[in-house]
Amino acid sequence: MANYSIASIPGDGIGPEVIHAGVEVLQTLAGRHNFGLRIQEFPWGSQYFREHGLMMPSDGLATLRPFDAIYFGAVGAPDLPDHVTLWGLRLAICQGFDQYANVRPTRILQGLQSPLRHCSSEDLDWIIIRENTEGEYSGQGGRVHRGMPEEVGTELAVFTRHGVERIMRYAFRIAELRPRKRLTVVTKSNAQRHGMVLWDEIAASVATEFPDVAWDKMLVDAMTARMVQQPSTIDTVVATNLHADILSDLAAALAGSLGIAPTGNIDPERRYPSMFEPIHGSAFDITGKGIANPIGGFWTAALLLDHLGEDAAAKHLMSAIEAVTASSVRTPDLGGSATTVEVTRAVRDAIR
Ligand code: IPM
Ligand code: MG
Repeated sequence: MANYSIASIPGDGIGPEVIHAGVEVLQTLAGRHNFGLRIQEFPWGSQYFREHGLMMPSDGLATLRPFDAIYFGAVGAPDLPDHVTLWGLRLAICQGFDQYANVRPTRILQGLQSPLRHCSSEDLDWIIIRENTEGEYSGQGGRVHRGMPEEVGTELAVFTRHGVERIMRYAFRIAELRPRKRLTVVTKSNAQRHGMVLWDEIAASVATEFPDVAWDKMLVDAMTARMVQQPSTIDTVVATNLHADILSDLAAALAGSLGIAPTGNIDPERRYPSMFEPIHGSAFDITGKGIANPIGGFWTAALLLDHLGEDAAAKHLMSAIEAVTASSVRTPDLGGSATTVEVTRAVRDAIR
């Protein structure tokens, strides 16, 4: 019997509510599919910061390193600056473990509706691959002459051949595995003439290794319109850290709700544990009300199981999720009145 050790970091806001629900569902699946899960929770995040002045202990990465995967909730609190909490935990893990591929599948789950008229689940079945360690989130930049009229702030987008080649190759590989074998490379190479042109050149050269993949290029602004107007022409998308951040929120909204969308922060070479999280974030407005949609956390758990090689359990979970989204047991973000606990119970029942 396979045994996996998972580090869970529920974090802030609704993170604990959805991650605890996800852990229950994972344990139910482990029982059914005959694998073992040892889940260890780490109380890192904003409360930890208030007590210790750090989002996680200084040896946090070393502590996480031996785990098979990380199951992450959300980070951010209203009384702390977002750039401090985010860089102190989530981005520290993404960069520290070189999780360079951020994978964001989007589709319209059974029973849910796109805000787009005439958009069926066949029309919107995408996977967005986000470069996750450099680009606009490189962390390079600075501020000088603070508070003076001549103050300067720079935020440097860094694109390396190494970084772009590996995400491009990863995206082509994913596209090749999907039935439509179609990849769209998104940049802004008309206005940004250095790093973005490097992306275009690397896309063209990596494409020659994947003759079965049909690929095209889009500028990011035009891509937003295409996602709304011609969703069925899109399959796999690769874009920079910031562009894909923005496009993936649009994608999730077009698929019905930000509350359902999952993410994997993947180290494809498996040198380090990969980290899985719902994309919705802390959601302070509904924290503690018991109405957070746990589906994003469950879909995230399915990505985690896939990554561990437990494909049957991952498929089983997705069909249980869709049995519930197709029913009337839904949280308020999906127009229902069910609580987190009720949706979790329904998914566990569907698994059994
Ligand atoms: C996401 C989120 C984060 C990001 C925020 C919380 C900084 O929007 O995962 O998409 O931009 O990476
Ligand atoms: Mg985002």
